Amino acid sequence: MVMNVLITGGTGFIGKQLIQLLLKQGHAVTNLTTQKTQEGVVSNLLQHIYWNPTSKEINKELLPEIQAVIHLAGFSVANKWTAQNKALMVSSRISSTEFLCEIINEMNVAPAVLVGASASGFYKNSDEVQDETALKGTGFLSDLTDQWEKASTSLHPSIKNIHLRIGVVLSANDGALKKLTPIFKAGIGSAVGDGNQYMSWVHESDLVELFSYCISHNIPSGAYNATSGGPVTNTEFSKTLAHVLKRPFFLPKTPAFFLRLIFGEMAQLVLVSQRLSNKKITSAGFQFQFNTIQEALTDIYGKAKN
Ligand SMILES: NC(=O)c1ccc[n+]([C@@H]2O[C@H](COP(=O)([O-])OP(=O)(O)OC[C@H]3O[C@@H](n4cnc5c(N)ncnc54)[C@H](OP(=O)(O)O)[C@@H]3O)[C@@H](O)[C@H]2O)c1
Repeated sequence: MVMNVLITGGTGFIGKQLIQLLLKQGHAVTNLTTQKTQEGVVSNLLQHIYWNPTSKEINKELLPEIQAVIHLAGFSVANKWTAQNKALMVSSRISSTEFLCEIINEMNVAPAVLVGASASGFYKNSDEVQDETALKGTGFLSDLTDQWEKASTSLHPSIKNIHLRIGVVLSANDGALKKLTPIFKAGIGSAVGDGNQYMSWVHESDLVELFSYCISHNIPSGAYNATSGGPVTNTEFSKTLAHVLKRPFFLPKTPAFFLRLIFGEMAQLVLVSQRLSNKKITSAGFQFQFNTIQEALTDIYGKAKN
C-alpha cells in the first residue's frame, strides 16, 4: 500500500537513503527539518517542512494526512562528548520525540505507526548474547537511549510504537567505516582495546529496508534489535576490513587507555562489547540480506570501487 510517510532527520545519513527507498516504493514523504533553508516542495512526492522541537514551532497546515511516521532526528553522538554536546544529544532526542508525539496526537486522522530510531547502546557491556528482554546497561549511551524510548510514552495508545535499537551502521559514505577506511587503506589499521569486544552491526541497505518493513507490516509495538545475525569481535571485524581492502593487518592492538586519552568517555563507542540477537525481528518476518561481516564489507567496498 502506498502511504504518506512523515519522517524526521531525513537530511541525515540514514534519512537520506530511507527517503530514496520510500520514494522508489511509491510513497510520498514529508520530512521535518530544523534547517529553515531546506524547507520547500521538492517534487509531488517529497517536501521538507521546518520545525523547531525546542520552541515547538511548525506550520501544521503544511502536513498532509499521514499514515506512518519515522523518527530519526537527534544531534549526532559522533560529536565530541563535551558536557554541552552531551546535553544536546539528550535534549534534541527528548524534545523532538515529545513534540512529534504531540503533533501526531493532534492529527485529525491518526497514523497507524511511529517507528523511532534507538540504539544498541541501550544494552550492558557484555560478551553474552542479549535480546530485547535484556536489562538496560549503565553509562551515558544507555541512559540516553532509555530516556529517548520513554519520551514517546505520550503517544496515543491506538498508534503502534516501535523502537529500532540500531547497531553500528556500515556504509562506505558515512558513519564508522568512513572514518576507518583511510586508516586501513594506509595499511595502519589495527584492532582496538583487547579486540575481544563484540560489535553488532547492520548494513545500511538492510537498515533502511527494515524501517520500510516496519511501516508496511503488522509488527507489534516494542523494541527490536536492528542488527545483523552475525556480530563479530573487534579483531575479526578489523581483520576482515583489512582483507577486503587488500591491505596488511599486522599492527598491535591500539590499547584502550590510549583511546580514552584521546577520545575521553566517547572511546566507549568502540570499546564496549555488544552481541545482540536479531531473532525478534526475523521472527516477525524480516530477512536481512547481509548476515556476515565478509558479505557486508565486500558489498560496500565492491560498490565503492576501490
Ligand atoms: N548511524 C548510526 O550508526 C546509528 C546507530 C545507532 C543509532 N542511530 C540513530 O539513528 C538516527 C539517525 O542516524 P544518522 O546517522 O542518520 O544521524 P545524522 O546523520 O546525524 O542525522 C540526524 C538528523 O537529525 C537532525 N538533527 C540534528 N541535530 C538536531 C537537533 N539539535 N534537534 C533536532 N534535530 C536534529 C538533523 O536533521 P535536520 O538538520 O534536517 O533537522 C540530522 O540530519 C540518530 O538519531 C542516531 O542516533 C544511528
